[in-house]
Amino acid sequence: MCGIVGYIGQQSLLDILLQGLKRLEYRGYDSSGAAWIEPGEALRVVRAVGEVRHLESKVSETDCYAGAGIAHTRWATHGSPTEENAHPHTDQSGKIAIVHNGIVENHDALRETMLSHGVRFTSETDSEVVAQLIGYYYSHNHGFEESVRKTVQKIEGAFGLAVLCLDEPDKLIAARRGSSMIIGIGAAEHIIASDMAAIVQHTSRVVHLDDNEIAVFADGGFHTSTFDRQHVDKEIEVVDMEVQEMELGHFEHYMLKEIHEQPRCLHDTLSGRIDLRNGRARIAGLEELHREIAKVRQIVMLGCGTAWHAGMIGQYLIEELARIPCDIQYSSEFRYRNPLVREGTLAIVVSQSGETADTLAAMEEVRLRGATCFGIINTVGSRISRETDAGVYLRAGQEVGVASTKAFTAQVALLAVLAAELGRRRHLSMDRCASFLEELHVIPEKLERILGKASAIRELTSRFVDHDHWLYLGRGVNFPVALEGALKLKEISYIHAEGMPAAEMKHGPIALIEPGMPVVFVAPRDHLHQKVLANIQEVTGRGGEVIAICTEGDRRMRELTDHIIEIPETEPMLSPILSVVPLQLMAYEAALLRGHNVDKPRNLAKSVTVE
Ligand code: AGP
Repeated sequence: MCGIVGYIGQQSLLDILLQGLKRLEYRGYDSSGAAWIEPGEALRVVRAVGEVRHLESKVSETDCYAGAGIAHTRWATHGSPTEENAHPHTDQSGKIAIVHNGIVENHDALRETMLSHGVRFTSETDSEVVAQLIGYYYSHNHGFEESVRKTVQKIEGAFGLAVLCLDEPDKLIAARRGSSMIIGIGAAEHIIASDMAAIVQHTSRVVHLDDNEIAVFADGGFHTSTFDRQHVDKEIEVVDMEVQEMELGHFEHYMLKEIHEQPRCLHDTLSGRIDLRNGRARIAGLEELHREIAKVRQIVMLGCGTAWHAGMIGQYLIEELARIPCDIQYSSEFRYRNPLVREGTLAIVVSQSGETADTLAAMEEVRLRGATCFGIINTVGSRISRETDAGVYLRAGQEVGVASTKAFTAQVALLAVLAAELGRRRHLSMDRCASFLEELHVIPEKLERILGKASAIRELTSRFVDHDHWLYLGRGVNFPVALEGALKLKEISYIHAEGMPAAEMKHGPIALIEPGMPVVFVAPRDHLHQKVLANIQEVTGRGGEVIAICTEGDRRMRELTDHIIEIPETEPMLSPILSVVPLQLMAYEAALLRGHNVDKPRNLAKSVTVE
């Protein structure tokens, strides 16, 4: 979600606003901006696409004012990530500036109403509607505070809001419904933010605004009330946390935190991007390539490691849903292959960091040969995100653990959305597409249920952690999940593991099976289930110990093995988002049991920026 920071007091407000935005960068964003009122009565608004450092470069050292200011990091939901669409937004009089976190569900209707009153809009965003509506009321002789109150009662949907008014330079207003808004209390100064990360370095005394509440800051203090002016007493909390501790929360490691963040991250990844009513995807980057997408004849997927595994799942999804030939390529191999790139090729470039040298080079090679590049990237403003023709950000937030987890499930989710949209623009019916997207929409809740099995997964892992060789097997779309599970185990527990198609075992690897050897089967219920059961019997028949990731209620599986982790039923093509989570947790527990540094495993870097 977007990030909000506001300040009112006697310190240099821009330093505080920019520091605060940098504290929120880990949440992910695609543009940023700030607004403040200069003593000469000018309302300044500065915005920039990409990282906060680009915004910083637009602000001069002389801009060191006291008073009231607001700032924002934006995830594009309505309108592409451009400077015009970045926050803060102002009303047409230029007297009101707002930053907004959330989605205005009724923005179309409100926009139409104001257009009919002659209001001129300058952006494609739903948030600008809020600024213009406050300005509309203000220009019709309602006071600043009253104009905010009238507006927030008109908005449908979730919002966290901070507002400035040129005519009242020593006042700041914050409002909230559904999106976090925290007030940090200083000595005659206050900082507001959507996240503790931006506050905790300034003060430990905080107040949380609740839904349908407004806070008005002036004269060194503030008062809180409901939207319809009922006074509300708020309890001051004392938060005793270091920034890093706050970012880690109650988790022991970033990897574990990021595994457990996946339901929220997937919600953020999908937020504003799937239209269930019409069975469509809303991905700004796709619209920019509308003509190229219509002419796509071949897709090549480029990535490394975990990103490559996500790309392979994307290959199954695209060929199944969009019926477009799709080739998955290791970036490191593709760049030296002298590849054949036909007319109408779309290269989908998958990368969490957006800085992987092999993938950058592969992208350069495929573009040289005429392909159009579409990036699926997590890190905002990264090189790959800047060099692709278009793309989409994961919105998974900063991934600190070297072993990629939440980025993987977010990549698969976005590839599913992309595959559905590509299919919808060809032959996929609205109903089929809508039901597929509906199932994707409820995946985060199903993922929560798997996370609830963490202690059972820990216990199961402890039974096999002393084995130095594991196999991971799967068929169809579960094969790349097996590869990903093996990679997770290798890179943080240093146990040797190999992933392969389950049917490939009989072509040699079955010679490896010996009594007690752990063999993980990724085997949710699908059209190949019976064949996988046969493969399982080939392993148990030779004394192998089968660990099965299977669909809830798979009675046949319980007859074949005692080591079972069940996942909820879902669309088979979406099951990788669920089946990978037990494998992530198994790798995490194995690394802990072997005493290794989970977040910083030996020999590895989070981003491989060299060949
Ligand atoms: C995954 O756990 C590894 N850290 C590694 O394989 C990683 O996925 C690979 O280096 C690609 O990184 P990228 O997604 O940032 O391009």
